Amino acid sequence: MNITMIGTGYVGLVTGTCFAEFGHLVTCVDKIADKITRLQEGIIPIYEPGLDVLVQKNTDEGRLRFTTDLAAAVPEAEAVFIAVGTPSSRRGDGYADLTYIYEAAREIAVHLQGYTVVVDKSTVPVGTARQVERIIRETNPQADFDVASNPEFLREGAAISDFMRPDRVVIGVESEKAGQVLQEIYKPLYLRETPIVSTTIETAELTKYAANAFLAVKISFINEIAGVCEAVNANVVDLARAIGMDGRIGSKFLHPGPGYGGSCFPKDTLALMRLVQEHGENVRVVEAAVEANAAQKARMIRKIREMLGGSEAGKTIGVLGLTFKPETDDMRDAPAATILPALLEKGAKLRAHDPKGMEEAKKCLPGGIEYVKNAYEAAEDADCLVLMTEWNQYRALDLERLKSRMRSPVFIDLRNVYDPQRMQAAGFVYTGVGRK
Ligand code: UGA
Repeated sequence: MNITMIGTGYVGLVTGTCFAEFGHLVTCVDKIADKITRLQEGIIPIYEPGLDVLVQKNTDEGRLRFTTDLAAAVPEAEAVFIAVGTPSSRRGDGYADLTYIYEAAREIAVHLQGYTVVVDKSTVPVGTARQVERIIRETNPQADFDVASNPEFLREGAAISDFMRPDRVVIGVESEKAGQVLQEIYKPLYLRETPIVSTTIETAELTKYAANAFLAVKISFINEIAGVCEAVNANVVDLARAIGMDGRIGSKFLHPGPGYGGSCFPKDTLALMRLVQEHGENVRVVEAAVEANAAQKARMIRKIREMLGGSEAGKTIGVLGLTFKPETDDMRDAPAATILPALLEKGAKLRAHDPKGMEEAKKCLPGGIEYVKNAYEAAEDADCLVLMTEWNQYRALDLERLKSRMRSPVFIDLRNVYDPQRMQAAGFVYTGVGRK
């Protein structure tokens, strides 16, 4: 199958590469010439475990190409995937900005040849595929095409395995012909008996938002329960384990922390709220989750302040982890991007480390943060250490070595990585989230 992928951002690059790994011929198109040149040289613009190896392999074997030439890539494709960005609009109102999607639709329309399925892979509000269809039809009335919606459920840091072994694939199509093309594309997964859910286009579009919103609700729920645990001297880790054993609740996404971040949950929850408002409906539960997430970050700032004796002014804080989660260099909406500026503003000195995210962090965090080479350097002369992101590198630190470097052995574990008793025995003043 000949596939063209428009957009080599996170989703486009991972999806295009994995389709090539399935055996299809994939051409990835992007407007940014520099990015394409680098990709042709095997330089990957994001950090995603395993992606570089797969890009190299499929490029070498001739199944994966990178180009800026959309005009050449579209006519030969049986399916064109739109995987361009849908950021929150610059107006700051939470709406998804669909400019890039519609621009891509217009450009694709001109070059369509023979029957082609145009598939929305980007996360888009309900109704976008219909708009894409309308734009293509208006731009090129002769075009022989169908639109489809095929949302992605990849987690950053685990995207390749999520793609190769998904819980399900959701395909929103309305013509049998388009359904057959998508079935052919996902054939390797059919053979592995992956559940494929065929829906209407609108259902597929909404499924993506509903899935992310539900996960955001789950995280905010356990974060609020963590607060209650602290108030009544209960332990949220044991509680989450106990409730998670109920199959109806499930154990995943019940880890309290400094609030969810990333390029998806914050953006998609807002976009869902706007969509729902437009239709005169409500998603109060999602609204509450968004509010609770902001409150959680504020709570973490207060927690750090309390552990420093009531004021962060003049104190040195070592920070372990900056990215919104481990195994990525992505800083978008990372809790660190809210928490650290607030600490800086109150006069704290910050020494921060992240295994992969420091370059990105430098671009989006205020100046004045000292970036160091490892956790032990972050601990140097620190009045406290804050474990912000649960990278594996921070899971088995040499506690003695860490403590000996600190001015005061205070450890604030925002991901509950360490055992409180063990930390206490090692001489630390320790606190986690949701357990005293
Ligand atoms: C999320 C979804 O999990 C994917 O299914 C979806 O495809 C993706 O968004 C997307 O829309 O593209 P991602 O943003 O990569 O994936 O990361 P998650 O693993 O979901 O984590 C999101 C945030 O929630 C992180 O900040 C993480 O630390 C936090 N989190 C997650 C918790 O605080 N507690 C948990 O129990 C789980």
